[in-house]
Amino acid sequence: MKPFDVYPLFDITPVKAEGAYLWDDKGEKYLDFYGGHAVISIGHSHPLYVKRLTDQLNKIGFYSNAVKLPLQEELAEKLGEASGYTDYNLFLCNSGAEANENALKLASFHNGRKKVVAISNSFHGRTSLAVAVTDDEKLSAFINKGNRVVFVPMNDEEAIARVIDDETCAVIIEGIQGVGGINTPTTGFLKTVEAECNQHGVILILDEIQSGYGRTGKFFAHQHAGIKPHIITTAKGMGNGFPVAGVLIHPDIKAKHGMLGTTFGGNQLACAASLAVLEVIEKENLIANAQTLGNKLMNSLKNISGVSKVKGAGLMIGIECEEDAAAIRKDLLFKEKIFTGYSSGNKTIRLLPPLNITQTEADHFLHSFSSILKTKSKTLA
Ligand SMILES: Cc1ncc(COP(=O)(O)O)c(C=O)c1O
Repeated sequence: MKPFDVYPLFDITPVKAEGAYLWDDKGEKYLDFYGGHAVISIGHSHPLYVKRLTDQLNKIGFYSNAVKLPLQEELAEKLGEASGYTDYNLFLCNSGAEANENALKLASFHNGRKKVVAISNSFHGRTSLAVAVTDDEKLSAFINKGNRVVFVPMNDEEAIARVIDDETCAVIIEGIQGVGGINTPTTGFLKTVEAECNQHGVILILDEIQSGYGRTGKFFAHQHAGIKPHIITTAKGMGNGFPVAGVLIHPDIKAKHGMLGTTFGGNQLACAASLAVLEVIEKENLIANAQTLGNKLMNSLKNISGVSKVKGAGLMIGIECEEDAAAIRKDLLFKEKIFTGYSSGNKTIRLLPPLNITQTEADHFLHSFSSILKTKSKTLA
């Protein structure tokens, strides 16, 4: 048997990682400004994270949701405190798509409706409902079609107010669009969505899977706008690489035994990983670091020739380039040994580094990035 060939792979085999760095099997060192797609929040192999997981594994690694799991209660409490959502309830699962799938199902259980409003250019995952609210036809198979989903352009307040009605089950929106190219909803847009949802009994779901966990300089990106969704989904940075996801649920949405469920979700190791992440974020002041270093990085990037626009917040940064972003990303990786992300179709390089990068690492990136852009413009001149 071989792995099912669905990923275009870089010819690099990482075998070791620490902080913001990776090493491959040939001993080559890479700066990680991608974090394995926004997953590495507290840095690779953080000693506190490794210890907490190792200690947990030495006690008990897994048992299912058939028994009491006090670590889930500890995690729910800590996550409530860290995010400010102390009165919400937490459902734990294993991946971003699964979190969104459960969020949409929960919304429909709550109000008995079907129609969902989503945003153009969205990405919410690849499972059945998550892919239906993802604005990319290529990702949907025939079996995924037929859901009542209406897509509205980002930040079009009139359009969204027109489509949210008494038949709408939920609105789903990313805190900041990631895969779509780092597009930020305005405060005005989010406030309109919030007001319309409250007026029509619609569940507002904020997908914070990529933009959450301190990445944008607040615990959740929507907190920059001061709105309060009914459901928030999180994954990626939550476990720093351990597969774990969460659905934060408004207290008015009531649980019934059996309405949601999972075998692996919220197991002891997943909780230990998530607790370690929250502890490090707090101890090392990583949300403030994301904010300060992110601002500095964005300001410096704006002054680099060849950059047409800098978007995002904190350490979720999109750099629109005059030249082909895919080629720049490749040069960064193979010439400068720096991992970055990329959004197809819109010339955007995505930066999603660990939240504990230092000024030195940011300067290293800026120096390498401007030298790649300089070489490119010379080649084209
Ligand atoms: C905003 C957003 N939602 C959902 C997902 C899906 O997460 P997963 O790949 O863990 O299913 C992603 C993944 O990139 C994402 O960026």
